Parts: sequence; C-alpha cells; structure tokens
Amino acid sequence: MLNRVLRSIYGDLPELVKDPLGSFLERSRTPSGISPLRIGRRQAYLISDAALIRRVLLENFENYDKATPAFEAIQLVLGRGILTGHGPIWKKNRRLAQPAFHGHRVQRFGPILERISRRFADRWEGLCRRGEPVDASEDMLRITLEGVSEVLFGADISESSSEINRVFPVVLENLAFRVTQLIRWPDWVPTQRNREFKEALGSMNRVVDGLIQKRRQRLAEIEALAPDARDLLSTLMVAQDEETGERMSDAQLRDEVMTLMIAGHETTANALTWVWFLLDQHPDEVSRLHEELDTEIGNRVPTVGDLPRLKRLRMVISEALRMFPPIWMFDRRAIAADTLGTTAIAPGDLVIISPYGIQRNPAFWSDPDTFRPERFEPGQEENQNKYLYLPFGAGPRICLGQSFAIMESLLIMATLLNRFNARRWDSTPIKPKPMVTLRTSAPLLLRLELRNG
Ligand code: HEM
Repeated sequence: MLNRVLRSIYGDLPELVKDPLGSFLERSRTPSGISPLRIGRRQAYLISDAALIRRVLLENFENYDKATPAFEAIQLVLGRGILTGHGPIWKKNRRLAQPAFHGHRVQRFGPILERISRRFADRWEGLCRRGEPVDASEDMLRITLEGVSEVLFGADISESSSEINRVFPVVLENLAFRVTQLIRWPDWVPTQRNREFKEALGSMNRVVDGLIQKRRQRLAEIEALAPDARDLLSTLMVAQDEETGERMSDAQLRDEVMTLMIAGHETTANALTWVWFLLDQHPDEVSRLHEELDTEIGNRVPTVGDLPRLKRLRMVISEALRMFPPIWMFDRRAIAADTLGTTAIAPGDLVIISPYGIQRNPAFWSDPDTFRPERFEPGQEENQNKYLYLPFGAGPRICLGQSFAIMESLLIMATLLNRFNARRWDSTPIKPKPMVTLRTSAPLLLRLELRNG
C-alpha cells in the first residue's frame, strides 16, 4: 500500500536514487531499446538502441535541449556556456571555440602538460622515497585542474592559482551535491553548505572576471600574437564569428571559462583514476605498457610527439572509458513531439542516455565486465558503432575537449608509468559511485616503486 502511494508521488525515482547504476544497467537491456520511467511528475525514457540514440543526438538534435533538472543545476555555476546552452547561442559559441580544440591545434598545449606531468612525477618520487602513499583520486584532480587552468590563463595563472585551488574544489563538490540531491534546502536558506557555496562561487567569479579584465587591457598586444602563441582565454577573446564578425562578450567569456574548467577537470581526473584502478587489477597489462614505454621512449620524459606511438596505452584508456565512463548518464528535454521507434515522445518529456548501461550491455559488447583493451585494436568490429560507445557523447554536441582529454590522459599516464610501478596501498573495496561523474567509492591509494630506483 505504502509502496503504491510512494510510487504515485515519486514514480520510479526511489528505485533510481537507491541504485542508479543497477537500475540503468537493467533498463538498458530492454529489447526494444527504450524503457519508460516516471520521475516525479515527469515522463522520461531511457534509450539504449543505436538508431534511437542517433535520432536524439544527431538527426533531430535541435528538438532536444538541455532544460533538464540536472543541467539546470549545472547552469547555476556555468551560466549559459557551451555545455548548457541551446539553439543559436550555443551554435555561435561552439563555432567560436571549436577551432581551438581541433586535434592538431590542441598539441600546442603539449609543453604545458608535459611540464605539469613532470612536476607531479617529481612529487610522487618524493612520496615514494618517504614510503608514503599517493592518493591517486586526489592527485589526478590536482593535475587536471592545474592543466586546464594553465592552458586557459597561461602565465597569468600564477598569482591566482592558490585561490583557484582553494575555492574550486568547494564549487565542484557543491555542484555534485546539487545535481545528485533532489531534495535539498533552497539556495536562499543560509545553511552552512549554501553559505560555503556562495562564498566559493563569488570568489571564483571574481578571480575569473579579474583575469578577463586584465587580458582586455592587453587586447592589442594579444591580437598581434601568432595564433599558436595565445593561451585559450586569448584565443576565445579574439575569435570572430565567421558569419557575423561578432566576438564573445565578457559575460560570455566568463561562462565559457567556468564551463571549460568544470568540464575539463573532473572528467579527465575521473577517467585516469579508473585507469590506475584497472592497472592494479591487471599487472600483466602494466608489464605490456612498460614494454611499450621502454621501446618507444626509453629513459627520458615523454613528450606530446611520442603519443601517437603509444598504441597500447591508448587502447587501455579507451577500455577504461568503456568500463567506467566518467559521464555515466546525460539527458535531454524534448521541445516538440517526436517518435522514437514506436514510442510517442511528448513535448517536455526527458530522454536519458546512459553510456555506462550501454557500454556494459552484453548485446553490444562481449563479456562487458571483463577488461580487454584488445577491443580497441583498429578494425575490431565491437568498437565500430559510435552510438554504442559514448564516453564523449555523439553528434554535434559531442565533447568539445575530446582531443585535449586524450592527449592529456596519454601524457600524464606515460610520464607517471614510465617512472613508477604502482599497486594499491590497501584493500578497501572500491565500487563506482555515481555522482556527476562516476567516482570511486573510496580514495584510491597507491604504493609506488621507482622503476629505475
Ligand atoms: C575524459 C574526459 C572527458 C569526458 C569523459 C567528457 C565527456 C563529455 C560528454 C559525455 C559530453 C556530452 C554531454 C552531452 O551530450 O550532454 C561532453 C561535452 C562537453 N565537454 Fe567533455 N569530457 C571530457 C573532457 C573534456 C575536456 C578536457 C574539456 C575541455 C577542456 C571538455 C569540454 C566539454 C564541453 C565544452 C562540452 C559541451 C559540448 C557541447 O554541448 O557542444 N570535456 N563531454
């Protein structure tokens, strides 16, 4: 009786809140590829069929915007940046930012990432010599925050980095809380959490606005620089829309900077944490990677030019992104009516896609719970359908930072693996914990050993 009353009020929400991953795994296996869900009063559909996903993310993507509860929570921090916007504004800003993220253009950020990776390798060496563990989950967050901040702000970052390092984790933590906690105090109630969040967000906005203003004063100097000598903020500041000649306003730049910091930080850190976790379980794979590094790089520090040769490492990262996709689900709202398969979608309905559910579905991936990097050997049939492997999404709204993320992941892993053997420090069970990204349920502590110590 109580269950029936609860269901009539909350729909499938209690089941989803209790075990979101289990529930999405099971529902992603529906033979029709579409599973209806009721989230409170909203009608939603989880889709897991390649043709239906293609329709939502590509063929009819303009009919599906991001006015969903999860994206609206994110918008509070990011404003209307490329990640949360829709329609002509999104199109214009994506067009402005896109050239800076093309595969060959992102390589210009290689030297920054090489330097930061080396600095972390030195830090790890210190911990290793003192016999202390390294918290991989924490350090992957630190390394990717430093990476994305320096790529955005170049040398200007030095005076703001300590403030960014102080407030940014608070912003991120609160964002995760807002996206995952459906019942919470409204923002105007002065709870400790709300106060901390407001203070951190205010400070972050002041830092970013200050960096933008400072840059504005040097606009003529920046315009005179060769494109490849500009950091990402300058690139975005001088980018001109080819159709209208317009540039981004300061408010827009602020939203895009926050978007890139958030979208480009925890996702990559999360992916790398899972790579360390998987490698601990597969020491044979670590030996293969060490062999590859010894052959291709030897006893020096890896550079961005080495990355195309690290084929096995790339396959390992792809497989980690399959088993533990950082963005384990994302959603859309239907603007107008549509039909998905034989299901009528009404305006306002939510459509949910779960990369985790799809990438662990035995109908699409053999032994989906088994770590097998060979799946990503070129020409393997399993990885051919881009609507069934979605760590970066698909269609016109595919991840803007995909090439950057892959370059950064390869470089960080190559640098650290080349110097260390790493095994888990303790045996605390670790499971995926679905927040905004798919976090580890406990910190991943590593015991390091120098390879040439
Ligand atoms: C392993 C790391 C990453 C993963 C798994 C990831 C995943 C994703 C996914 C799944 C989407 C699509 C979301 C949707 O369709 O609703 C997305 C969008 C986006 N990502 Fe990433 N991302 C990663 C790294 C990055 C980096 C490094 C940046 C920037 C520096 C970035 C910037 C963006 C932006 C701006 C969008 C919005 C694109 C649009 O809507 O046009 N991401 N990402």
